Amino acid sequence: MNGNEVKISIGLEGIYIAETKVCKIDGIAGKLWYRGYPIESLAADSSFEEVAYLLLYGSLPKKTELDSFAEQLKKERDISDNIKMIIKSLAQKSHPMDVLRTAVSALSSEDPELTDNSPEANLRKAVRLTAKMTTIVAAIGRMRAGKDYIKPDNSLGHAENFMYMLSGSKPNKEVAKFIDLMLVLHAEHGTNASTFSTMVTGSTLADLYAAITSGICALKGPLHGGADEAALKMMRTIGDPANTEKYIEDALAGKQKIMGFGHRVYKTYDPRAKILRSWFTDIGSKSSGEVKTLTETALRAEKMMIERLGASHGIWPNIDFFSGPLYIWAGVPAELFTPIFAAARVTGWSAHMLEYWPNNKIFRPLDHYTGQLDLKYININDRK
Ligand code: SDX
Repeated sequence: MNGNEVKISIGLEGIYIAETKVCKIDGIAGKLWYRGYPIESLAADSSFEEVAYLLLYGSLPKKTELDSFAEQLKKERDISDNIKMIIKSLAQKSHPMDVLRTAVSALSSEDPELTDNSPEANLRKAVRLTAKMTTIVAAIGRMRAGKDYIKPDNSLGHAENFMYMLSGSKPNKEVAKFIDLMLVLHAEHGTNASTFSTMVTGSTLADLYAAITSGICALKGPLHGGADEAALKMMRTIGDPANTEKYIEDALAGKQKIMGFGHRVYKTYDPRAKILRSWFTDIGSKSSGEVKTLTETALRAEKMMIERLGASHGIWPNIDFFSGPLYIWAGVPAELFTPIFAAARVTGWSAHMLEYWPNNKIFRPLDHYTGQLDLKYININDRK
């Protein structure tokens, strides 16, 4: 490229910004690994606590290490009255993602290690954030419904306790396993928009709370983490499953994006969506009412989208497509889908930040100026 040639990559498409050992995505083969482990085996055999340890510490824990990590998370679960007050003041008038980013930002005022940027302190902060974000999401769900905060039950695992704090009763084994699976599947995914946002903020040496708050802000958008809530909204708008094909036809004709489909990296079925799809068909076949209707609509939409845009355009279901009806079955309201995504992804965001900081370089891409230069300043009284 000679000095004048400028190659702009909108949205940094195809640009590598760092080396990493946290996650690998093969978008052509539709494969995903966390720290070298295939997502399928982690989804089948691991737990969110174990995956969080794997992402943050870099290897699978021994039994004693996992037990101590799980205890650390439990110790950090509860939140202060100040944070509860902030949540309560916003929960019934703001979107849960806006409440979450505000509460997480406020947590920084309570962390005595806030400005300690050592790897050890940052790891401890990542554990606190992982423990508390799940609690905050449950508290938002409660207070949004006009209910009181429920204190954590430390006899329960991470996912189980989340559902207990949200609903007031301990979940059955199937629901607890599903929520744990959703936390595992949402924990990490390379330098997606929210992870990149986290890294850009952290690269200025702002603290981990500032970086994670940036990640939460970026995740909210319907093109990213907000797609799960948007996909369910679409399915509910379709109503009778028999309307599905016409709805999709009209949307595509109007150049509308169908939420839950397509991906910057996957040009085939998102392996996480594949894992959820088997849960989806199983639960759908056992359900009645809205979940059954949503399942039928989703499967018809999936069939049509794959026929229309799958092989030809590389637009396939992604992780956000099947989540909605499953969360509804589990008793999670739609506005909490993306906050739960954030409460899982805090582990991936933190893992990338902890990996990037030791050889930190502030992000400062270039932009190609195409405006005018050296214009003559005209006094306001002389402007026509
Ligand atoms: C997540 O990056 C990650 O890893 C993210 C994530 C993670 O775990 O962090 O995997 C989570 O965000 C999953 C994606 C959730 N978002 C959605 O489901 C929203 C719908 N999808 C699209 O907005 C889109 O597919 C993106 C944003 C996901 C990817 O967008 P790209 O790579 O920038 O592609 P594009 O928008 O430039 O689209 C290319 C073409 C366009 O057509 P043309 O203008 O060239 O004719 O494909 C079309 C688009 O219109 N297209 C779609 C479509 N997605 C792309 N058409 C209809 N429906 C869609 N969903």
